[in-house]
Amino acid sequence: MEQLAILGGDPVRTAPWPRWPVFDEREERAVLEVLRSGHWWRHSYGQGVELAESDEQPQSMVARFQRAFARAHDCRYGICAANGTVTLEIALRAAGVKPGDEVIVPAYTYVATATAPLMVGAIPVFVDIDPNTYTMDVQHVAEAITEHTRAIIPVHFGGQPCDMDALNALASRHNLIVIEDAAHAHGASYRGRKCGSLGALGSFSFQASKNLTAGEGGIITTNHLDYAEMCEMLVWAGRRRGEPWYRHYVLASNARMTEFQGAILLIQLERLEEQMQRRTANVLLLNRLLSEIEGIKPLAIAPSTTAHSFHLYIFRYRSEAFAGLDKQRFVQALQAEGITGAFAGYATPLYANPMFLEKKFMGGPWPVDAFAHGQRIRYSDFAKRCPVSERACAAEAVWLPQSMLLADEQAMHDIATAIRKIQAHAHELL
Ligand SMILES: Cc1ncc(COP(=O)(O)O)c(C=O)c1O
Repeated sequence: MEQLAILGGDPVRTAPWPRWPVFDEREERAVLEVLRSGHWWRHSYGQGVELAESDEQPQSMVARFQRAFARAHDCRYGICAANGTVTLEIALRAAGVKPGDEVIVPAYTYVATATAPLMVGAIPVFVDIDPNTYTMDVQHVAEAITEHTRAIIPVHFGGQPCDMDALNALASRHNLIVIEDAAHAHGASYRGRKCGSLGALGSFSFQASKNLTAGEGGIITTNHLDYAEMCEMLVWAGRRRGEPWYRHYVLASNARMTEFQGAILLIQLERLEEQMQRRTANVLLLNRLLSEIEGIKPLAIAPSTTAHSFHLYIFRYRSEAFAGLDKQRFVQALQAEGITGAFAGYATPLYANPMFLEKKFMGGPWPVDAFAHGQRIRYSDFAKRCPVSERACAAEAVWLPQSMLLADEQAMHDIATAIRKIQAHAHELL
């Protein structure tokens, strides 16, 4: 009788998974070109070409890339930066979010979505996610709005666009700014419009795991010239285009991207569409295979999602259908069967991290407790308000990274076979 691999049996899959990142001699050439040019940093600042929709070809790789990326995401402006954490901070600053303002963020996301408001002195307020899509629940956003709310950061989680029409309508009724955290959503679209163009500003990450990567990096996208200009000043130490080099107009850090990253990203962008198609085809197959397994439910794809980037493939696991086997043990068993990238995701919703529970921010509870409305916030209270995020972390969500979706069809069958095998033998793991 077949034995589970975690108990010493043969794994379902021994074949390797696709290597990530994907690159070939084109990236090698591009990096060498930058190396030999001697222009390793963003050198062409001041030429004034890359913000506009100009047909001129800028020399800087970063400038070329940010223009190409913005165009591919239905935006007039793209401003590259060091990573997808600082891009969120810069977007908040550019949008005028001030100390003491409340910023509504989902509870189920990467830490940067909530630390970016703190880094600009604002107060993150968490809301729960939709149980079927794991994106921000707009009804809960409406309930969280107070007189102090200034902005909302929807996260297109895993690559699925949030319900942006409902969010934008809510935001405009309350005069709030919407900043999309599109760190997972390269190429994704909502009702035919690209993520990154759906709010006032969008923020993307090019960190190593992302669907478009240079190891690190980020970009802010917008269709508003004033935001674009402010973002650029905030990336460039408060400098203003065309003004003397050592003249600084606003408090800002240096968040520039290197030319090496710009050169790699230009080539990676050319690969994006084909990779998206491959992931989508595999997801349709995997959804069909996994839907047939009792206790396994892939996240829904909303009818408004016209392109999903599948940065993560997420399915919901129900332990009762696996003899009560808890999620962590299930994921270990899945990894042992050769589904090596399977991951249990966030261990807790964001607010349950010590940083929030103990308000360990800057020099103590600043900025949150500097304001009477902040002092009233206890982050432990959010557990009651976010049952879906709690369940996703503790018991339900299983992630497969995007790179696994670049494998062949057989790999999708292997995933399903491994899950079925664990289900048949789950009692042996108790
Ligand atoms: C949802 C989300 N937002 C923001 C970020 C921050 O991006 P970076 O790692 O480039 O700082 C990430 C990265 O993992 C993310 O997953």
